[in-house]
Amino acid sequence: MPIRQLKASGVRNLQPLDLDFHPGVNFIYGANGSGKTSVLEAINLMAAGKSFRTSRLQHVFSQESDRIEMLMAIEDETLGECELDSLRLKGGDHLLKQNGSVLTSQADASHWLPVQIIEPTTFKLLAGSPEERRQFIDWGVFHVEHAFMEHWKTFRKQLKQRNSVLKQKEDEWLAVWNKGFIESATAIDQHRRDYLKRFKPEFERILTQLDDSIDVTLAYYPGWEKDSALSDVLERQKERDMVLGYTQSGPHRAELRIKVDKQPAAEILSRGQQKTVVAALKIAQGSLFQQESGRRTIYLVDDLASELDEKHRFALCKLLEDLKCQVFITSIDKEKLNDIWQPAASKVFHVEQGKIREDEPGTD
Ligand SMILES: Nc1ncnc2c1ncn2[C@@H]1O[C@H](COP(=O)(O)OP(=O)(O)OP(=O)(O)O)[C@@H](O)[C@H]1O
Ligand SMILES: [Mg+2]
Repeated sequence: MPIRQLKASGVRNLQPLDLDFHPGVNFIYGANGSGKTSVLEAINLMAAGKSFRTSRLQHVFSQESDRIEMLMAIEDETLGECELDSLRLKGGDHLLKQNGSVLTSQADASHWLPVQIIEPTTFKLLAGSPEERRQFIDWGVFHVEHAFMEHWKTFRKQLKQRNSVLKQKEDEWLAVWNKGFIESATAIDQHRRDYLKRFKPEFERILTQLDDSIDVTLAYYPGWEKDSALSDVLERQKERDMVLGYTQSGPHRAELRIKVDKQPAAEILSRGQQKTVVAALKIAQGSLFQQESGRRTIYLVDDLASELDEKHRFALCKLLEDLKCQVFITSIDKEKLNDIWQPAASKVFHVEQGKIREDEPGTD
């Protein structure tokens, strides 16, 4: 069972909650504005240290509180049991603990919570900035390759240093910083390439199951000219980098190009088709993660009914069921949920004006 229990207070309109979840499917239903998405947002806050709805975390704090407190009990088949404890203050301070010991990095908590989100704006993964698709690839690499995080941290530091040398126009220091920069950039690039090689066939398999009429291709761009060595590119761009005061090329500019007939998929596919492709990307990523780590992905599926038509909804739920992973799925009414999915075992939660409670088994 991944998330066994969640206690939370201070999130949006939610009353303090203390819930025991099902290891499989958790249905959350309630009227518009009752707080369903906020429950998913709370889970994701622990998993990713951020909201999927806003880049400004202060909006997630309840208007009546300047602190968000959360406690999550996790039972992972491979990693074992763990309790994550988080206290966030509106001013920005954050104290994160694992089994009572302070964690210095969000990544340590994220490691326990391989969460994927499918919600009404996820189609933006196709149309949005390259950063979103970069983060998408890196989720897969991070959760499978533990060395990746260290390479990434080192690279961030080196990029910062290199940019500051460029700003100061300290030409003579550039060669010194280039060496480490290229080393960590190459390591990140290699991790991403290896990952995508394994990911592509899984994505194609899942997309065919969701909709075999959509034909998209995934092309990886490393962040610099494809057939050139990064060292040559940096040398060539030195003057311009110096004028701009930042590094134009490197893994911080990598991109996953998603295309239909050589055109960007976001320009060609219908909204529903885009949602299907994004769902396939996310299911494929979770599936590959499960195959490679032996652990299970946690899916947050918000407002599925508004996402896809009936045929695609069924196909998606079937895939989630096959993965046998923990799923949190919201809808405005209970019947709609039952129409979509009747898993063998599940828990149902009702949210009403910020109060969430578990339905007694057998209640309608
Ligand atoms: N910071 C906040 N403090 C208090 N209440 C808030 C805050 N931010 C949003 N709200 C309110 O919280 C409620 C819950 O929002 P949420 O998006 O979780 O609802 P929902 O059940 O997902 O609704 P829908 O079915 O429309 O998607 C809304 O009524 C919203 O106005
Ligand atoms: Mg909602």
